[in-house]
Amino acid sequence: MKANIGLIGLAVMGQNLVLNMNDHGFKVAVYNRTTSKVDDFLHDAAKGTHVIGAHSLEELVDKLESPRKVMLMVKAGEVVDLYIDHLLPLLSPGDIIIDGGNSLYSDSNRRTAYLKEKGILFIGTGVSGGEEGARHGPSIMPGGNKDAWEAVKPIFQAISAKVDGAPCCEWVGDNGSGHYVKMVHNGIEYGDMQLICEAYQLLREGLGLSVDEIQGIFADWNKGVLDSYLVEITANILAYKDENDQPLIDSILDTAGQKGTGKWTGINALDMGIPLTLIAESVFARCLSAQKDDRVKAAQHLPKKASTFNGDKQKMVDAIHDALYASKIISYAQGFQLMREAASEYRWSLNYGEIALMWRGGCIIRSQFLGNIKQAFDANPELESLLLADYFAEAMSQADAGWRKAVIQAIELNVPTPAFSSALAYFDGYRTARLPANLLQAQRDYFGAHTYERIDRPRGEFFHTDWTGHGGKTASTTYTV
Ligand code: 6PG
Repeated sequence: MKANIGLIGLAVMGQNLVLNMNDHGFKVAVYNRTTSKVDDFLHDAAKGTHVIGAHSLEELVDKLESPRKVMLMVKAGEVVDLYIDHLLPLLSPGDIIIDGGNSLYSDSNRRTAYLKEKGILFIGTGVSGGEEGARHGPSIMPGGNKDAWEAVKPIFQAISAKVDGAPCCEWVGDNGSGHYVKMVHNGIEYGDMQLICEAYQLLREGLGLSVDEIQGIFADWNKGVLDSYLVEITANILAYKDENDQPLIDSILDTAGQKGTGKWTGINALDMGIPLTLIAESVFARCLSAQKDDRVKAAQHLPKKASTFNGDKQKMVDAIHDALYASKIISYAQGFQLMREAASEYRWSLNYGEIALMWRGGCIIRSQFLGNIKQAFDANPELESLLLADYFAEAMSQADAGWRKAVIQAIELNVPTPAFSSALAYFDGYRTARLPANLLQAQRDYFGAHTYERIDRPRGEFFHTDWTGHGGKTASTTYTV
């Protein structure tokens, strides 16, 4: 019997996806560039399964039922293109290539078009959930050539995580939309992680709580509206003791790494003109953390004025909770707004309720909260901003006072909370009917004749004033991003 699907790339995610597929009754053929890995896998983790090995791409392709489905779980970038080019002569029209790595969506746009020309169907899919997710149920976000979906759907939906019986895997849309949605997922992941870190720092450095106390707080928060995988693992991390029975967290160097998906989200938001402030701040916070030597030097040259918290600690813990929750709502509101803009720019028809459902289980940002987002989009699929949904508007109003208190306290205590505070600035800006951009427009017109619109004239009519009395009469062409 031929295999239902072939998988290339036996690193941990690849291996676990294969075992997951096998558990669900699919026959998988595997290949890895270092072919000894194929044998090791078959003799070790895949021993006793129906998985079959191949030592060349020809052999792999030969072992597959038609239409052939070949999934790449290899490093994003050039390697994907190399495999595509090696596979092309071996495949027949109607066969399917799936890229399950963290590829840049524009590469998936290009690959979908390139392969379509050759009669091959391409799927670029986000796969989230780390090792554990891949093995027992990831969130899967496929996009590309829809003609491939029916053949792949039974496999992907079977192996994906389920929430109330519904698979965390649905067709996202054309071209690179699956990888786009995964990119935004990762950006939101950066934001969630930064928010948790700010809460931790405020509790630790600001309120002077012990790691054990903070562990208890996160464990407690995980029982309420903040219930999520990342809060849960934070409590587990804080509980973890090293060989000297000390919290391991205290021995870990404070420089964050990043592989680029958060940065891509920020760059894309700038390109689209969408204020994705929280995710951008989170990327920059990682960059600042990486400047460890500079920070150590600056800490000596620019010492902080001693400031201690002497208020009611429990009330401040509650305020920090509210700051985390409200900022998280802002982050998701911004992320979904970015996807709306991308959908219109790239002509994708994205279903935001389904995206929320795909993220509800299996992936790194999975949380109870995504269930509320799904409900908001189910009630109004055209919702412009999550902040306008009744449930979230009410949540923001309830968290408002605590959020401000936490940010004020952080400022007074010299604890940096860039995501909490920039989220608050966004919130206040978003609900300000008249911002000082009137002055900004006047400045632009003053120094560069960039023109402005007037509140008493229809939109689209542009005016120029000779502010100094000795400027020219000609306006420069209006330039809007
Ligand atoms: C997932 C994750 C994963 C990502 C890591 C590391 O959804 O399973 O998003 O795809 O690669 O979280 O990302 P950084 O190295 O950029 O932090």
